[in-house]
Amino acid sequence: MIKVSKLIHDYIQRDEDGNPSGTIRAIDDVSLDVKPGQFIAILGHNGSGKSTLAKHLNALLFPTEGAVWINGLDTRDQQYLWEIRQTAGMVFQNPDNQIIGQVVEEDVGFGPENMGVPTEEIWERVEESLKAVGMYEYRKKSPNRLSGGQKQRVSIAGVIAMHPRCIVMDEPTAMLDPSGRADVIRAALTLNKGEGITIILITHYMEEAIQADRIFVMDRGRIAMQGSPREIFSRVEEMQELHLDVPQVTLLAHTLRSRGVDIPEGILTSEELARAICPDAK
Ligand SMILES: Nc1ncnc2c1ncn2[C@@H]1O[C@H](COP(=O)(O)OP(=O)(O)O)[C@@H](O)[C@H]1O
Ligand SMILES: [Mg+2]
Repeated sequence: MIKVSKLIHDYIQRDEDGNPSGTIRAIDDVSLDVKPGQFIAILGHNGSGKSTLAKHLNALLFPTEGAVWINGLDTRDQQYLWEIRQTAGMVFQNPDNQIIGQVVEEDVGFGPENMGVPTEEIWERVEESLKAVGMYEYRKKSPNRLSGGQKQRVSIAGVIAMHPRCIVMDEPTAMLDPSGRADVIRAALTLNKGEGITIILITHYMEEAIQADRIFVMDRGRIAMQGSPREIFSRVEEMQELHLDVPQVTLLAHTLRSRGVDIPEGILTSEELARAICPDAK
């Protein structure tokens, strides 16, 4: 689905007069592969290069060196631009910047309309997309009246309506309250497990990465760690060195273990911890 090979991205810095004064290397030799249908989480502290990488997956940025292929299409090849952006949809942090329609269903219809989808089919797509994110009842409402989490689900519906094979979400829950966050993650998981849509989720919330098939941890433009959630979250000290947390229950298990309690590393849920501490309990 996605192949990134030895990607380097330099931003050009400019002085007050707009003249180039230097470069910032935001992505420094990143290679990764994502298979169709995978749920990938990308973690990393601020400035580690996550958003820059995300923009490469949607051909919003182009490699300084190296290459990116989306469904086999090279992002450096201008003739594939439209097809790439249709294949890999993008959801950003702030839902207010992504919603343009006055009515929810209208907003969701914009994407397919721009693609030239016949009117009849647009309505089918709007219905199916709003249902997929649990927002169908709100189709006649004004987006202004929705909560942050509801707006973000409408933006996701707008992306789904374009029938992408992959959705890149760049901190889609950063501006939401806990219940809005949970709804958005649930919608992402449903699309992934139900429709087989590949999901790339960039997040600050470790709990949201627990259900990923694979996690990439970024640091200073590089991939510092990669593995399953259990593998990554077992490496508590390394994560802390990268200024990242692990899920609370993982940290608790790790602390208990370091004090001599006989439980495994990489505990991800409170149920697992309970079972590890007292295996006989129901
Ligand atoms: N448009 C830009 N121009 C110059 N530097 C940028 C630009 N966008 C990001 N950067 C720099 O690139 C690095 C990576 O940024 P970014 O990809 O936004 O990281 P993250 O999303 O992990 O916070 C940072 O040092 C940031 O300051
Ligand atoms: Mg970012």
